[in-house]
Amino acid sequence: MTLVKLDIHAVRNIQQETIIPDPTINLFYGENGSGKSAIIEAIFILGRAKSFRSATIRPVINFIHDKLIVSAQIVQHTDPIIQIGIQLDYKNFICRINQKTTQKRSDLAYALPLQIIHPKSYELLDAGPQQRREFLDWGVFNYNKAFLPAWRNFKKALIQRNVLLKSKQLQHINVWDKELVYYGTIVNSLRQNYLLKFTPVFIDIVKQFFNFTDIDITLSSGWDTSLQFQQILINDLSKDLNYGFTHSGPHRGDFNLLISNRVARNFVSRGQLKLLVLSLKLAQMRLLYNESNISGCFLIDDFAAELDVYNRAKLLQYLSTMGCQVFITATEISQFGDLTNIEKYKMFHVEHGKIKQA
Ligand SMILES: Nc1ncnc2c1ncn2[C@@H]1O[C@H](COP(=O)(O)OP(=O)(O)OP(=O)(O)O)[C@@H](O)[C@H]1O
Ligand SMILES: [Mg+2]
Repeated sequence: MTLVKLDIHAVRNIQQETIIPDPTINLFYGENGSGKSAIIEAIFILGRAKSFRSATIRPVINFIHDKLIVSAQIVQHTDPIIQIGIQLDYKNFICRINQKTTQKRSDLAYALPLQIIHPKSYELLDAGPQQRREFLDWGVFNYNKAFLPAWRNFKKALIQRNVLLKSKQLQHINVWDKELVYYGTIVNSLRQNYLLKFTPVFIDIVKQFFNFTDIDITLSSGWDTSLQFQQILINDLSKDLNYGFTHSGPHRGDFNLLISNRVARNFVSRGQLKLLVLSLKLAQMRLLYNESNISGCFLIDDFAAELDVYNRAKLLQYLSTMGCQVFITATEISQFGDLTNIEKYKMFHVEHGKIKQA
């Protein structure tokens, strides 16, 4: 999957810009405040219908506009060009894929699989489980089409069950328990299967950056799996009633990254944490390619803030052979390092929200 043309309208300080990116590596440089992160943000919005740095879309929309639009032409292998676009205002979003309107984020996510590394990415391993679940589920979602309907049905059952718990109406709770157990078990086993495939790919990538040998990823299902999920719901019922929500299930799932049987985030340095997060995201892209022959889009905002010179060079080399399309920002060209070994790339200069190929 390659963006062959990208149009950005009213994203931060970018009024209206068109880029013809290279299918491999695209490097953006410019002063602080020139609009580099805005470009990365625009591409991210196109694939995920949300910003990676603002909880709401309002601050992303250019001050003098009331909506933003990002659109692109995408090609995958020799398939015909796909036209995708998204328009967001303060409340709504509309996506178009080949002239067809959709409100489903999942349609965009399938059309434009992307991963991002930015200065707060280390939080994936450092912060609470929500981000890790989202990360894991992005992989499972792309890996197995059965995941999305199972997850949606699970969420529906969970919401209904929680409503009953809050209102203390337990007559029909069994109905939702059954659904919860059925779909929750599917979600959990799809996550497990995905991790089995994912872990060796991840370990292979980690080796590029570290000397760690004994690495593993373990799934925490969100309940004590030595017991049946059904049994856990029965055991938890009085606690669930007290608090008005369901304590156990895949909505509480998580994964642990272990190095020599120790939880990595408890002892690795901040820089190492960033490299581990980078490796996790690269591994998802690699696995997507291995399994589905889909090469996604890899975004790296603020290259120098993330990695030292040595690791930046290794990463660029790795990315240039990986086959995915890459967008990287830095304040100065020198931060991209020695580019003589990089076969193909395009360089862009960003200034006051304008983007020019350098
Ligand atoms: N809603 C908005 N409307 C107009 N301009 C905005 C809006 N939000 C932010 N800006 C401005 O857009 C500019 C570009 O911001 P951006 O974060 O993309 O810069 P950057 O090039 O990534 O800078 P840095 O190198 O510091 O990371 C900034 O000057 C910022 O003040
Ligand atoms: Mg920036």
